[in-house]
Amino acid sequence: MDIGAIPVAGIARLAPMAGISNAPFRLVARECGSAMTTSEEIDAMSLVRENPVAREIARFYPEERPLAMQLLGCDAAVLVPAAEALQAAGADIIDLNMGCPVNKIIRQGKGSALMRDVPATAILIRALRRAIAVPFTVKIRGGWDDQHLNAVEVARMLQDEGVDAITVHPRTRSQQFTGRAPWQIIRDVVEAVDIPVTGNGDVRSMADARRMMAETGCQSVMIGRGALGRPWVFDETLDALDTASRWERMTAATRRHVALIEEHYAENPRYLLNQLRKHLGWYTMNFRGSKAARAAVHPARSRDEALDAFWAFWERTRERALAGEPVEIVPDHSALEG
Ligand SMILES: Cc1cc2nc3c(=O)[nH]c(=O)nc-3n(C[C@H](O)[C@H](O)[C@H](O)COP(=O)(O)O)c2cc1C
Repeated sequence: MDIGAIPVAGIARLAPMAGISNAPFRLVARECGSAMTTSEEIDAMSLVRENPVAREIARFYPEERPLAMQLLGCDAAVLVPAAEALQAAGADIIDLNMGCPVNKIIRQGKGSALMRDVPATAILIRALRRAIAVPFTVKIRGGWDDQHLNAVEVARMLQDEGVDAITVHPRTRSQQFTGRAPWQIIRDVVEAVDIPVTGNGDVRSMADARRMMAETGCQSVMIGRGALGRPWVFDETLDALDTASRWERMTAATRRHVALIEEHYAENPRYLLNQLRKHLGWYTMNFRGSKAARAAVHPARSRDEALDAFWAFWERTRERALAGEPVEIVPDHSALEG
């Protein structure tokens, strides 16, 4: 699949997740096989005001590329300079968030609130399209609620306004992240537009990704919660390996992620510890019997405490796996909202 002139080499990529899909996680996912990366949402107003948090979120590794940077906003006068700044900083693609269901965001008219007034949003998209020289993509939901399932109408409008590609997470805003994602809506969008469509929602493996592509006709897939603590979800060669080699590869990816977190957040030890605790907790959740390990990792007061608790669990689990025990599970992250 190409997004505008940018070739995307692979069928699946990491989804944007606020507070999660930051540069270290994106790079480790990319190294495991994610076809490209997308930043978590960056508030356009904060970026234009040079807020340090927004600047931090916009940092990336050149090795991630191609990289889409995602903007959150509802006002062309703010979104246009924000898009120009991201473009100047090296974004290969600018993505607009039209899917965020979080109340404090939609109250400001941002995220999925943009799906409510299609003519007004068309004017916004037109202004952005004029200003953005790189490919321009938009991530949408199925609609506002079950009475307003307008993904097809929105997708047609986006195509007419010159958007290069669309990602569809088919749950409605009111569905948040609960219930199964209705993939049929992805299919409806694929049939309604000619630009590439990326499907998203409840993909937990590359087999799921291929099933979504077969069932909906979408050209590629984004994986969000299915990649938490398992960036190797993008690695299609993993299943063919023997247990020892599989663990070697998973261990290397985990160590790499830890090293990237430590390097990237070296100047912010509190955030560094927060990121370690959060991600290491997810790494444990791929395996049976992780409750005690998580209970030790989450409240850890230092990097060493978190890492010691984590690696002790990891090593025990690896030994059980090498002894032939079925230790791996696919965790349920459905309670997680963003
Ligand atoms: C904690 C969290 C944060 C999220 N943040 C964003 C975001 O910043 N931008 C965005 O477009 N979607 C965001 N999403 C939505 C995901 O990109 C994705 O559409 C959703 O999780 C469904 O895919 P999944 O079933 O593979 O997780 C977030 C989801 C979660 C769980």
